Amino acid sequence: MRLLITNIGILAGLDKEQKLRLCGSEMKQFSTIENAWLLIEDSRFKDWGKMSEMPSEGIPSDKTIDAGGGAVLPSWCDPHTHIVFAGSREGEFVDKICGLSYAEIAKRGGGILNSADLLHTLSEDELYSSAMRRVDEIIRKGTGCVEIKSGYGLNTEDELKMLRVIRRIKETTPLKVKSTFLGAHAVGRGYSQPDYVDLVVNEMIPEVGKEHLADYVDVFCDEGFFTPEETARILEAASRWGMMPKIHADELASSGGVEVGVKHGALSVDHLESMTVEEIELLRGTSTMPTVLPGTSFFLNLPYGKARQMVDAGLAVAVASDYNPGSTPSGDMKFIVSLACIKLRLLPAEALNAATINSACAMGESKDYGSIAVGKVANVFITDPIPSISYIPYAYTTPVVRKVILSGKEVV
Ligand code: NIG
Ligand code: FE
Repeated sequence: MRLLITNIGILAGLDKEQKLRLCGSEMKQFSTIENAWLLIEDSRFKDWGKMSEMPSEGIPSDKTIDAGGGAVLPSWCDPHTHIVFAGSREGEFVDKICGLSYAEIAKRGGGILNSADLLHTLSEDELYSSAMRRVDEIIRKGTGCVEIKSGYGLNTEDELKMLRVIRRIKETTPLKVKSTFLGAHAVGRGYSQPDYVDLVVNEMIPEVGKEHLADYVDVFCDEGFFTPEETARILEAASRWGMMPKIHADELASSGGVEVGVKHGALSVDHLESMTVEEIELLRGTSTMPTVLPGTSFFLNLPYGKARQMVDAGLAVAVASDYNPGSTPSGDMKFIVSLACIKLRLLPAEALNAATINSACAMGESKDYGSIAVGKVANVFITDPIPSISYIPYAYTTPVVRKVILSGKEVV
């Protein structure tokens, strides 16, 4: 099956060198050509070129889509979400407006524990259908590859229930999905902290491992949640089952999460709102992807991560939505790219790379996703005609995605 897209105003995110991530000044280049065509064969990118240089006999294909002068970009890759959850938490939203902080709400037994209470009452089917509504929403907004975490179960049975829902999403959506076990998201109700860490290590991880339910493991390593020592113990237990770490680090305080992540070869360390300059140095020369979540800073009024300094220090940086009911009830990656420009001070090209190739790398998937390169999975979206790629973050509430193609198939 060959799908040809013609009359592309701007074909963007091209990669001839098949790079797995872009570091420092490399991020300034988001390669584009104008007035182009793109050929997809059997779900993967095959070739592209300028319309003016198209062979006179045309390019044989089974189907042609006329992009009508719109841009074509690689689909967003969102490497940090919690989109399986049981209900919204707008009550806490109001509490925050009235002056309570995220940490204070958590300390009162609200926050993540409220989501766990609610999730306990829902069946796998109910959770699956509510999560699929969010999956559909992010597909329409241009996301093509997503990581989804557990972490609202907080006991063995409910954590497994969440991970089985994520597995079902993997099997039934055109999105590429990676799953992460986040049993250590908060201490489950009724447990002491040491007992809960024992439960994660001795019971949850082996159960998750035996059923192959998670690609990765995560720990909320932060003030008021889990310590670096507890985190290390959990990561070591999970590594015996082949789960690589992705860490919640430095959201509420500089908490040692970056150090423990780097030490255990984490694929990514995420959040980083309270990261220090010393932690930037710790990341140098490692393969751990710092992943900044500017939607969380926006929604919780937290400091914005030091993405600019990290890129200037030569590091690769990714961004993610963190879509969840407590700290970021949005999976809109276009808005994340706008925040990356406006608040993190990344240039549009840097922000687009942070939301595509580098965010694919933060999921261990940049060999197959995150750019338009020959042989990669054909995940793209087609926009309305736009003057330049900088228009995408600039027009920060204008929807631009018109058509979505995932694995070479038109899905929207
Ligand atoms: O990434 N910080 C920890 N976990 C989520 C929030 C979870 C929640 O509040 O429900 C986050 O921000
Ligand atoms: Fe998170």
